[in-house]
Amino acid sequence: MPAPIVIAVDGPAGSGKSSVCRGVAQQMGLQYLDTGAMYRAMTLAVLQADQDPGNADAVRALLPSVVITSDTDPAAPAILLNGQNVSAAVRGAEVTAAVSSVSAIPEVRLAMVALQRAEVSRTLSDGVGIVVEGRDIGSVVLPDASVKVFLTADPQVRAQRRASETDGAEVAVTQAQLQARDALDAGRKVSPMTRAEDAVEIDTTALTLPEVVEAVCAHVLSARGQSSEMSS
Ligand code: DC
Repeated sequence: MPAPIVIAVDGPAGSGKSSVCRGVAQQMGLQYLDTGAMYRAMTLAVLQADQDPGNADAVRALLPSVVITSDTDPAAPAILLNGQNVSAAVRGAEVTAAVSSVSAIPEVRLAMVALQRAEVSRTLSDGVGIVVEGRDIGSVVLPDASVKVFLTADPQVRAQRRASETDGAEVAVTQAQLQARDALDAGRKVSPMTRAEDAVEIDTTALTLPEVVEAVCAHVLSARGQSSEMSS
């Protein structure tokens, strides 16, 4: 019996990570962990406490009172803050604008990485594999992951995808916001967004969602020494 598989998927906003990871997890019978949602939940906690996300001391002081839990079912993933389902609230514009500042704080990252590893260990101890998406999963959180993928796409296509998910959003404004967030996420001192050396890069610009899911599944199976026909 092979050990349960761990798939690390990193990449910038709008590269298709969430939909692809959920699709891969559902197709391969795995769990799914969205680590971006955890940083978003921490950011929501800061905003709900009326604290300044740019004030690292204030954010650090909140950490011990914040409880973040994840439901890792790929058909209905959820993020809970102090027991409340905040899956919709964490997608709001205010959280999105502040999340890069909060996620750059080293103590926040330490706490989230510990939670992420605990979630993966729990799933594996149940004998089930997991797909984990984020910015530093292959490089820092799970350097021993069985398979690592880095998803990319042209900035304009990423902006179009994100804008189409948000009522009234303009592509040009969304693109400027995405590029600003990418610069912060890739430029921060602690565990910046990066492609792990042993990650396979997939450019999703010209691919449909099912095509990317298929490409990732095929890569996973070939990395495990099986042909992709065996998945169907
Ligand atoms: O994937 P997302 O857009 O929901 O992520 C929100 C933010 O969280 C992103 O701008 C950077 C941060 N993040 C991170 O620093 N490390 C991760 N592993 C995942 C997300």
